[in-house]
Amino acid sequence: MIKIRSLRARIILINSGILAAVLLLFSVMVYYRFKHHVEAAEQIELEQDVRRVSGHVLENYQAWQSHGLEEKLDAYTPPDGSGHYLSIKDSSGRIIYQSRDVRWRALLAQPSFVPPSVGQFESVRGERPLTILHASYRPPNGPQFDLLAASSTRNSDALSGSVFLTLVVLDPLMLLVASVIGILLMDHELRPVMTLRSQADSVGRGGLGSRLSIPETGDELESLGHTLNEMIERLEDALAYNMKYTEELSHEIRTPLAIIRMEIEELAELPDVSGVVQSRAGSALEEIAGLSTMIDRVLSLARLDSGGDLVPFVRLDLSPLVAEIIEQMRLLYEVQGVTVRLNASESAWVMGDGMQLKRAIANLLGNAVKYTLRGGSVEVDIHTNSRAVVMSVRDTGIGISEADLSKIFIRFFRTSAASTSARSGFGLGLAMVKTVCEQHGGSISATSTMGSGSTFTVSLPVAS
Ligand SMILES: Nc1ncnc2c1ncn2[C@@H]1O[C@H](COP(=O)(O)OP(=O)(O)OP(=O)(O)O)[C@@H](O)[C@H]1O
Ligand SMILES: [Mg+2]
Repeated sequence: MIKIRSLRARIILINSGILAAVLLLFSVMVYYRFKHHVEAAEQIELEQDVRRVSGHVLENYQAWQSHGLEEKLDAYTPPDGSGHYLSIKDSSGRIIYQSRDVRWRALLAQPSFVPPSVGQFESVRGERPLTILHASYRPPNGPQFDLLAASSTRNSDALSGSVFLTLVVLDPLMLLVASVIGILLMDHELRPVMTLRSQADSVGRGGLGSRLSIPETGDELESLGHTLNEMIERLEDALAYNMKYTEELSHEIRTPLAIIRMEIEELAELPDVSGVVQSRAGSALEEIAGLSTMIDRVLSLARLDSGGDLVPFVRLDLSPLVAEIIEQMRLLYEVQGVTVRLNASESAWVMGDGMQLKRAIANLLGNAVKYTLRGGSVEVDIHTNSRAVVMSVRDTGIGISEADLSKIFIRFFRTSAASTSARSGFGLGLAMVKTVCEQHGGSISATSTMGSGSTFTVSLPVAS
């Protein structure tokens, strides 16, 4: 199947367009050259006719005049429909011979008929197309003769017509054959490009570790493959650096945090500490715990980016996995006063890392509950089509504004409704969900109406 906007389609279209133009030009040239040659041959034949008549008959006009002139001339323009006609007048304008053909005579008798100038040819179109030559001849010591010789162009017209027809049939046929061959060749030539593309597409899913296998074509394709591999290497270095940097940073922060926490705990446990100080120490400890969680999550996101946290994919059914997550989160729903329902009548097989998928789905379900008011509901729907397993999480929560919808997958972004409310969070959950989906070859999207709820839809390639 050729996509109209594909490179292949464009090249084939341009190629076929150029070929069509060249064929058209070539055919027009061939046709007119052929027609011109046929007409020239016809004129030469007419001139030879006139020369024969002049040399053989009119030269001896005096001798033939009284006897046999008509028969002699009839021999040159036989009245058997051979398509040759003749009319001869003497210097006084008297017709001394005219071919017997009725229509030829009728043509000459027409008042509108004007013969071409002497020495010139003229084409007469119509029911019986003719080429007419006007000539004059004076034999040595004889009177001047005026000759009108004509020959039918029917045969040459038919010949030109058949050449025209051949070209009209052959041109599209040649174009079709050339286009089909072009498509097949293009398919063959572009196959390594498609292979590179699909390889490049799978690089990054589950880490950058793999490299493209480069076709040894010795052309631009091979050098493109090398360039892509170098780019993947640079990307890998950057991600590894990012992870190392994040790891070091989190270690650097974690250690003093642990010390601060210990010291605050010790301070709070001192016997002479007042209730106010104890409560302040408690909230400081809460902040420290939050900060530690955030550091853990930033680190885990960095690991996810570099593919470090993913294990080899296995075939797994999403339906029981989601049912299990809902079951584990039941207490949370009950505390929040939100009901959760799962619609998953069929199995939904995908290839993936169960642990990461579980974390991503738990995050979506966690959000749905977190941003839904008491008495609200969350509905999870799983269905499978020929290409994907689609899971949607629909809540009747606070909703997300149109402007915020495009930002919620950005790291650390929280809507003002979320950040000003008591709902805690770092704005990292959806970024993680998106990364996990993409690393599984899938995607996530969201729709929402402020005040009435949101729907998050995850789509993952169905496992074969
Ligand atoms: N179901 C939802 N309904 C309304 N708003 C939502 C919903 N899910 C996400 N959001 C909005 O998108 C923002 C980003 O979500 P995300 O899960 O990334 O972060 P978070 O829940 O705030 O924190 P955490 O890092 O703990 O997950 C949230 O702060 C919230 O504003
Ligand atoms: Mg969240």
